[in-house]
Amino acid sequence: MDLSLIIPTYNEKENIQNLLDLIYSEFKKYKIRGEVIIVDDNSPDKTGEIVESLKNKYPSLQIIHRTGKLGLSSAVLEGFKLAKSDVLGVMDADLSHPVEKINSLYQEIKNGADLAIGSRYIKEGKIKGWGLRRKLMSKFATLLAIPFTSVKDPMTGFFLVKKECIKDKPLNPRGFKILLEIILKGDCKKIKEVPITFTNRIKGKSKAGFSEIFYYLKNLLGYWKYRRKIIDEFFKFGIVGTLGAIINLGVLYALTEFAGLYYILSAVFAFIIAVTSNFFLNKIWTFKEKVKHKTAKKYVQFFSVALFALGVNLAILYSLTEFIGLWYMFSELIAKVMVFLINFAGNKLWTFKRK
Ligand code: GDD
Ligand code: MN
Repeated sequence: MDLSLIIPTYNEKENIQNLLDLIYSEFKKYKIRGEVIIVDDNSPDKTGEIVESLKNKYPSLQIIHRTGKLGLSSAVLEGFKLAKSDVLGVMDADLSHPVEKINSLYQEIKNGADLAIGSRYIKEGKIKGWGLRRKLMSKFATLLAIPFTSVKDPMTGFFLVKKECIKDKPLNPRGFKILLEIILKGDCKKIKEVPITFTNRIKGKSKAGFSEIFYYLKNLLGYWKYRRKIIDEFFKFGIVGTLGAIINLGVLYALTEFAGLYYILSAVFAFIIAVTSNFFLNKIWTFKEKVKHKTAKKYVQFFSVALFALGVNLAILYSLTEFIGLWYMFSELIAKVMVFLINFAGNKLWTFKRK
């Protein structure tokens, strides 16, 4: 068996036969030895019976009947247990996911990917038929996952994964977002996203409701320990920056008051000293580099970013105050936020960029 495709169903009588016909003709077209495992939660509309009656037509078709509506993620996990193939797939039953992309995803796995994702949020990915409200909610949910993964569409319900990547992993059966669970807790090294067009169902009703949103938010809290490295770097960069500001003020004061320097000259020295200490702290602590690794070159880079950010600082301070009429302290606050972001991005992506 090449591929085990899991399809959770709840009241999909108008879609299921159509979908199965399409899937099995794709299998045939691309010579994929595939099985389909339907996990039905005792659908009142008798989806389960329709599937039973199709078993003669499709010998590799299987169905798990559960006692009642027990949720999407747990249905998927139930299906995984029965799968005979080393490649597991998941797809919705309502024809929202393009059947013709099964082979594209499968090819990614064959070419070495551990996880192949049907993605709406990469170039050429699309969503058709959703209203603004559902689109915004989906975007927002996706945004909330940014601290945890660089995958662009970790909320999709259409993906293929190698069985070995999730073997013995404690995946949470609650909620709708089983893919995010797999990304975070699984062991998928190579992840590929393939663009898909998601088309809102024409027949039947969506089962996503308040409890799905609730479980998603609740699960997110538990994901903190799976946060990406960049989150820690961001916080550390912020701590170093705060320390730098204190050093800056301290040196400015000391040189002016105790050494009797002209305050503008003190400010220049204070800036240089603060940037220098920021550089070393960020090099060693935030970005975990050896002190001596390309120190001179990186120091120049770090300093250039700081100077550039200072330029932006003054430009924002001046223009918000003069042209927009904001109170100068408020302008400076906005400017400082920008300065922080520029410094972080500049040094993360340039000075301390890792290959
Ligand atoms: N067995 C079982 N039990 N199946 C379920 C249940 C359940 O409790 N709830 C939903 N399903 C099945 C549906 O019958 C359908 O085949 C599939 O799961 C998706 O359900 P929909 O109700 O169509 O979900 P959706 O379109 O709102 O959400 C889809 O898109 C989201 C992307 O924004 C799903 O694919 C989500 O997983 C995905 O996050
Ligand atoms: Mn749907």
